[in-house]
Amino acid sequence: MKNRILGSSHIKISEVGLGCWQLGGDFGPVSDSSAKEILETALAEGISFFDTADVYGAGKSESYIGQVLADAGSEVKIATKYGRGPGSFPDGYSLIDLRDSVKRAQDRLQRDCIDLLQLHCIPTEVMAYGAIFDWLRHVQQDGHIAHFGASVERIDEALICAQHPDLTSLQIIFNLFRQNAKKELFDISQENNIGVIVRLPLASGLLSGKYNSSTQFDDSDHRNYNKNGDAFSVGETFAGIEFSKGLELVKAISSFKPDTYTMAQFAMRWILDHPAVTTIIPGASSHEQVSSNVAVSALPELPGELHQALYDFYITEVEQNIRCAI
Ligand SMILES: NC(=O)c1ccc[n+]([C@@H]2O[C@H](COP(=O)([O-])OP(=O)(O)OC[C@H]3O[C@@H](n4cnc5c(N)ncnc54)[C@H](OP(=O)(O)O)[C@@H]3O)[C@@H](O)[C@H]2O)c1
Repeated sequence: MKNRILGSSHIKISEVGLGCWQLGGDFGPVSDSSAKEILETALAEGISFFDTADVYGAGKSESYIGQVLADAGSEVKIATKYGRGPGSFPDGYSLIDLRDSVKRAQDRLQRDCIDLLQLHCIPTEVMAYGAIFDWLRHVQQDGHIAHFGASVERIDEALICAQHPDLTSLQIIFNLFRQNAKKELFDISQENNIGVIVRLPLASGLLSGKYNSSTQFDDSDHRNYNKNGDAFSVGETFAGIEFSKGLELVKAISSFKPDTYTMAQFAMRWILDHPAVTTIIPGASSHEQVSSNVAVSALPELPGELHQALYDFYITEVEQNIRCAI
């Protein structure tokens, strides 16, 4: 597993991390044994970056991570988030609320200091007002968090956050269905030495190419209950592409795929080929998926002309189908 440095933090993390939203049960029910097996496989395979949030399963995802990674050593980094919890989102933010939330996360994660705390898709006006960044600095000075960053829905929000010189990372959606960061963010994040954490590398699994028109998702899976954005931003489910349109687009994109890659590996290798990206955080519903995703780190880069062809395809065929502001 290759590592990259996370922004200005000097922290070395694996270029393939693990997204842990699914461990909270928001992709359908997850058994204790499956959650632990996924985390244990990730550790054994060299993953050293785990992304979670206080709200994933109301703390369940953080608790699993705390239990399994308790003895993992300081080179294993955990990033969690603040800002979508009841009482906080959308207008309950304060230094006291932040401190309380961090304390609860520390308990669940079994860590005295959280490696990276990210603002979790908070309202644009709260990030623009800026007081919340001062509160993060207070909590950092108290030693409860080592670094802070922001997870955002849109590039204009990323640019607001990037104005803070001590921001370590931005978490964004960037995949074959969402390529705008390439032209609108990466030069700036690199100039400002801000790490880029890529979520939804597989557009919620769509880019693995394994779904078809008969695929059904569990009632408790956001790919069912949020398929049209009824619970939260539609951009967080299938990257904002309507499912049947997504199936068509994946089929077309698969014709660009070299034979030696699976579709999921092709989609993730494409992301890692961008030097501005620090890590990808694919979610996984099985330990086999974790192993397959880790293998992407060792695959060769894709040729430049293929990158250009995939960008052209995005501009002509994909971008107009994204059902939210990006
Ligand atoms: N606002 C935010 O900050 C925010 C929002 C969303 C996500 N995130 C973070 O980003 C992480 C990743 O996002 P995500 O899980 O929503 O999307 P994703 O990584 O694009 O998709 C994950 C899904 O892809 C499928 N998959 C994974 N590896 C595969 C493989 N090797 N072969 C075939 N299928 C594979 C699995 O689907 P099946 O379940 O069908 O097997 C898995 O549940 C989350 O866990 C979370 O940490 C953050």
